[in-house]
This record gives sequence, C-alpha cells and structure tokens, in this order.
Amino acid sequence: MKMIRTIMELRQTLAAVRSEGRQIGLVPTMGFLHDGHLSLIRRAAEENSLVVVSIFVNPLQFGPQEDYAAYPRDLPRDCSLAESAGADIVFAPEVEEMYPQASLTYVEIAVLGDELCGRSRPGHFRGVCTVVSKLLHIVQPERAYFGRKDAQQLAIIQRMAEDLNFPVQIVPVPICREPDGLAMSSRNSYLSPEERSQARVLFRALRESEQAFAAGERESRVFQARIKELIEQIPGTQIDYIEICATQTLQPVEQIDHQALLALAVRFGRTRLIDNCLLTEEK
Ligand code: PAJ
Repeated sequence: MKMIRTIMELRQTLAAVRSEGRQIGLVPTMGFLHDGHLSLIRRAAEENSLVVVSIFVNPLQFGPQEDYAAYPRDLPRDCSLAESAGADIVFAPEVEEMYPQASLTYVEIAVLGDELCGRSRPGHFRGVCTVVSKLLHIVQPERAYFGRKDAQQLAIIQRMAEDLNFPVQIVPVPICREPDGLAMSSRNSYLSPEERSQARVLFRALRESEQAFAAGERESRVFQARIKELIEQIPGTQIDYIEICATQTLQPVEQIDHQALLALAVRFGRTRLIDNCLLTEEK
C-alpha cells in the first residue's frame, strides 16, 4: 500500500491506473479508523480494482467552538488498518495541500443542509460538500462509499452528485455497531466510562422505535415523546434533536407513510453523538 501526501502525485498515480482500465473506489474519511470505516474500505475493495482511502480532518466542516484541534489523529495506525482492509492508496494531505489559499469557492446545498445537524452546526455541510467535491475531482473514482451512520451527510452527497452531475456512483454502507449497539464513531473515544455506558440509550431508543413501528405506530410525536422520556431519564444528557423525516428530502413528517428516517443527536457531557434508523414496512 502506498501513502501519498500531494495532489500531484495522487493524480499521476491514478492516471496510470486508469489507463490500465482499472476501476477506482474512493472512501473519504477523517481518520482514526474503526470497524465502521473498515467496512466501507472492504466493500470498496470488493467492487473496485483499486481503493483510495482519504484521511483528512477537514477544518472547513468544523465550527469555531467545535473539536477540530482535539479531533483524534493516528496516521500510522490508520495506514496499517486501511491496508489490512484492502486499501491500495492512503491519501493524507496536509491542510495547506488541500487549501493552499483562503477559498473563495464553496459547494453549498440548500434545504437539506439546514435540517437536523445543520441547525446546530451552521456551515458544516458546506464544509463537507466542498471537501467531498474536491476529493471527487482529484480522485475521479467510479464509486465513492459513505456510511448510513451519517444519514444526512449521505442524502446530501447523493443529491449534490445528482445536481452537479458528478460521474460517480455514491454507494451507501450499513451502520457498523459495537456489540452493545452503540454506533461506531471516532468521537466515542471522547466518552468517559460512565458516558460510554449511558450512550447505549441511543440504540435502545432506536430499537424500541422499530418495535413500535412494527406494532403499527405511525405518529411521529408518539415516537419523539417516548424517546425524549428515555433519554431524559439519564442525567447529564442534552437532546439536540429527535427527528422523523423523509429519507431523501429530510423534511419532517407528522405521520409516517410507509417509510421514514428516525434521526437522533444527543450530547453526553461534552460529546455529541448521532445515530439513526430507517422505519420501514419493507423489511
Ligand atoms: P468520518 O466521520 O471519518 O466518516 C467517514 C465515513 O465513514 C463516512 O461516510 C461515515 O458515514 C462512515 N462511518 C463512520 N462511522 C460509521 C459506522 N459506525 N458505520 C458505518 N459507516 C460509518 O464523515 C466524515 O468522516 C467526513 O464528513 C467526510 C465525509 C470524510 C468529509 O470530510
């Protein structure tokens, strides 16, 4: 496996790969890899003859009060994990390589970027869309892989790729969970042992909601009230949102038709975690 730090070297390497007719899969990440990331890399390795994993903590998607400086980083470990999952190239540029000058051009998505996490993280999805656009232009992959863990991000990237005619297939990958149900996340490393145990409430809330849906419940406010009650039983938690919305437009729904996205964002101490599930009749 090769580690590449400059856009020029990556472009030259990939031009040679493309001329051999090989298909390229891209897995964009911010590093500190866990099994969730590795499931994306494995899937990309199954479906492409060359896999590029980008590792870049993108300053543009962090707000001024957010955890950019504290975000966990471990490039040597990431490289060996990425290689073991089937990566051929790790692209790990410095900030100056990706943003050599103050950007004047951004990719911004209307409506979808303002819902859910967009409300408490203004500018976040502009940062995500801009960096993902840059990576798609640099790598020009046949396929790019995104986890359902970040359901809003996935919906936004899918819509951006459609709106801007990116010649890429956006491939969604299921959520990877710890044995007790907590969705894997690089930010789980921030949790104290007590918060880590409290955080199981997210999966419990999702599972109970799936059961209620299967039993016929369709009123969004009933799901929301029950989840609120569950979470508020735990001291030190702060609910950011409990939303039930349409899967592609992310617009809130009052009454679930045959399918909706249930998405949660909750703070445990200073750590904000997100999780979601699809409430669907099609399972
Ligand atoms: P990051 O949080 O590192 O996540 C990289 C990819 O891994 C995303 O597509 C995310 O949805 C996926 N992922 C994370 N945890 C997962 C889990 N438990 N199960 C399945 N997939 C999981 O998301 C980002 O980075 C950034 O916003 C990025 C797209 C790289 C742009 O900077």
